[in-house]
Amino acid sequence: MKNIEWEKLSFAYSATNYNIRCYYKNGKWGELEVSSDENIPIHMAATCLHYGQEAFEGLKAFKGKDDKVRLFRWEENHKRMVNSANGIMMPEVPADIFFEACKRTILLNSEFMPPYGKGAAFYLRPLLIGTGAQVGVKAASEYLFMVFGIPVGPYFKEGFKPVDVQIVRDSDRAAPLGTGVYKVGGNYAASLVSGGKAHDNGFAAALYLDAKEKKYIDECGPANFFGIKNNTYVTPKSESILPSITNRCLMDIAKDSGMTVERRPVAVEELAEFEECGACGTAAVISPIKRIVDLQKDGTEYMFRPDGTAGPVCTDLYKKLTGIQLGDIKDKFNWNTIIE
Ligand code: PLP
Ligand code: COI
Repeated sequence: MKNIEWEKLSFAYSATNYNIRCYYKNGKWGELEVSSDENIPIHMAATCLHYGQEAFEGLKAFKGKDDKVRLFRWEENHKRMVNSANGIMMPEVPADIFFEACKRTILLNSEFMPPYGKGAAFYLRPLLIGTGAQVGVKAASEYLFMVFGIPVGPYFKEGFKPVDVQIVRDSDRAAPLGTGVYKVGGNYAASLVSGGKAHDNGFAAALYLDAKEKKYIDECGPANFFGIKNNTYVTPKSESILPSITNRCLMDIAKDSGMTVERRPVAVEELAEFEECGACGTAAVISPIKRIVDLQKDGTEYMFRPDGTAGPVCTDLYKKLTGIQLGDIKDKFNWNTIIE
């Protein structure tokens, strides 16, 4: 086991021992290869470098009290990567290749698997890129699929403590019929300036609105948004946000806990009615929101947690989700795959 200060990990890159690669050539996928190189030799005209043929995923594995390693909902991440691949004309990665690459990444880097109870996880980053050369705007004929993994702590430095969020009105992350539903690099490039400005203004994340009317909430930095009112879990339905797997888990947990779940357009003004709000995602888990500020409109401030503590519903959802991930709570939804 590595001598790592697990409790102090943030969500940042660190080197591990091995990554797994698989090349697509002549219309078919090759064998999985193990690499200890952090670099990828790449053609200067590769389509991922010029035309954004790039999709990625993010999923986590956890070590339980019983010392078993549980990979969380990999089938859903695989399906989303297939969807992303189809969205930007890349070949689909077969499920067995996706799973085997994740499994080998976990097993070959076992000394980097955070022990139980340290508040850390092993984060897997599958990546699919066009490596074939093209100068005309068209899809490549060669691709690389790879997976690397790193031990991580909380995405927001606050951890499970409410954060401040800024509404963005001067740019869009994704267009309604664009690539927002795919996990492709271009969406993140489009979010860098607004995310950077929000950080410079002292906010943890930018809250994006629908690109067409700027009336409804889309999503929150690298996470989906939800609000809680009257025992109801409300989350935006939009054609320009990433379908979050964590959000789907929380909807299931909320229903199972006797809450009503609504997935529908959420107008900005409705923020005034929520008792609690949060951002959810694999990296963010649940990040409760303290306040949301509409600086670029009229400065309206929506305050949810003036005392800076997480609300009771966010806390309950967080405990139930992380309890299942760690193996402390019965996995009644069948979300975990034991890796051995
Ligand atoms: N929205 C965006 C833009 C993201 O990058 C992510 C992270 O994957 C999410 C939402 C949350 O999705 P998931 O819960 O599947 O990780
Ligand atoms: C994740 O939650 O897995 C993400 O991909 C967020 C990320 C872009 C940091």
